[in-house]
Amino acid sequence: VPSSRVSLTVNGTRRTVTVDNRTSLLDLLREHLGLTGSKKGCNAGACGACTVLVDGERVNSCLTLAVRLDGAEITTIEGLAEDDRLHPLQQAFIDQDAFQCGYCTPGQILSGVGCIQEGHTGSPEEIREWMSGNICRCGCYVKIVRAVEQTAP
Ligand code: FES
Repeated sequence: VPSSRVSLTVNGTRRTVTVDNRTSLLDLLREHLGLTGSKKGCNAGACGACTVLVDGERVNSCLTLAVRLDGAEITTIEGLAEDDRLHPLQQAFIDQDAFQCGYCTPGQILSGVGCIQEGHTGSPEEIREWMSGNICRCGCYVKIVRAVEQTAP
C-alpha cells in the first residue's frame, strides 16, 4: 500500500508523519502521535466519539483520510486547556456533571466547542439538534446540553 508524508498542525504544534494512505485522521492521532483522547467508538461515522476540529470545523476523524489533510490545523481534546486552566466547556462538563463513563466526552466537548463557534446555541432544542451526531450510551444528554448552554455566549 502506498504511503505519504503529511504535515499537520496539531494543537498548535507542527507534526510530520509518514502514513499508509488508508490511515484515518483518528488512527494518525492515536497511533502515530499518541494522542489517545479522541476515542474510537464505531469507526464508521455513527457515534461522534472521534470528533475533532479540522480548520475549526467539526469532523468525524474516523471517516477522514489523513493524507487529505496536509497543511490542516487540528484541535483535539488534548489541546483545549491552557496551561492548568481548563477550557470553559471542559469546566462546564464538570460543573453540570455531564458524563458517566466518559468515553464519549472528548467528542462531545469538541462537538460542543464547534456548536458554540458555529452559533447554534440559541435554545436547548437547537443545541440538541446540532449535537445530535454525538451519542452518549449513558444517556447524559440533558446535562450535556446544559454544559453547552453554560458556555455559550
Ligand atoms: Fe468516528 Fe464513531 S468512531 S463516528
